[in-house]
Amino acid sequence: MDKRIGVLMGGWGEEKDVSMRTGEAIAQALEANGHQVARLFASNGLDSTVREAGIDVAFLALHGRMGEDGRVQGLLEVMGIPYTGSGVLGSALAMNKGFAKKLFRQHNLATPTGYVVPASRLQDVPSLHADLGFPCVVKPANSGSSVGLTLVHTREQLEPAIALACRFGGEALVERYVKGRELTVAILDDEVLGSCEVSHDGSLFDTGTKYEGGAKYHLPPRLTATRLANIEQMALTAARSLGCRGAVRVDFIVPEVGNEVVLEVNTLPGMTRASLFPKIAKAAGLSFETLVERILEGATLDGAQPVEPLTDSPEIAAEPIAHAS
Ligand SMILES: Nc1ncnc2c1ncn2[C@@H]1O[C@H](COP(=O)(O)OP(=O)(O)O)[C@@H](O)[C@H]1O
Ligand SMILES: [Mg+2]
Repeated sequence: MDKRIGVLMGGWGEEKDVSMRTGEAIAQALEANGHQVARLFASNGLDSTVREAGIDVAFLALHGRMGEDGRVQGLLEVMGIPYTGSGVLGSALAMNKGFAKKLFRQHNLATPTGYVVPASRLQDVPSLHADLGFPCVVKPANSGSSVGLTLVHTREQLEPAIALACRFGGEALVERYVKGRELTVAILDDEVLGSCEVSHDGSLFDTGTKYEGGAKYHLPPRLTATRLANIEQMALTAARSLGCRGAVRVDFIVPEVGNEVVLEVNTLPGMTRASLFPKIAKAAGLSFETLVERILEGATLDGAQPVEPLTDSPEIAAEPIAHAS
């Protein structure tokens, strides 16, 4: 109980406001649990902020660029300060939707057909789009919270939507629009906590619906037990395929007919009291304070698990390795 915990919030991306709300909710829960908490605003110079605060553990309440994509995790690795959530690689892979989709496919997980366009290749859009058709969804390949996301119905709307998405991180992901129910699965420490269906009037779960109300939550989702079990298994596979740890939320679209598709893995899911992850945790019997405590207990550094010494293969160490120079 005597550890000093730094709650890192704010950050660089478009999701700063959500992060501040997540951070405050976490800080209050940690204090209610009897911890010593420092609220740290993450921005350029974060290394000095962390060092001056003299913290033992970092609780990450950041979303999006820098905070969720492995860069802040890398800084904390270098500083030797354990942090909550996924490590450097898992965070980076999950934040890059194009790479994440490649790994989902390698693990036989269905994900919407699509392609990635860097801002420098806008002229190649006609050949990249090929027969993908319309409607399609255009979104930043490296961002979240539905910022810069457009549902595109015609050829004419495509390039402006891609240019807009590229403003958030330099790359756009174009995907076939999959019509269906929205479902999200919460995973904690490699175990499924539960899932929630989100219904809304629009065709997309856009920023307004996400943060200003208008969404309905169905816990558990309105699906058969068999279909739900399959989706929850897919969520675990998706999180494992990227090497994620701690609290992870996996988003799906579940069509009436046809296969459910994985959209993305969120490695630092929203954690205000009204956010999806805490809602699912509550339905699973975990209060917000208990959830925050569990996430804190998982704080670690990459490779922190003890490695067994190679005692049974002394020949590996005996032969010096020859270097060509
Ligand atoms: N291929 C798609 N088909 C249908 N809806 C989509 C598709 N991609 C995204 N959406 C909609 O946009 C929302 C946000 O997309 P998502 O990929 O989860 O990114 P993020 O949450 O990081 O902004 C989804 O919840 C869904 O409503
Ligand atoms: Mg999402």
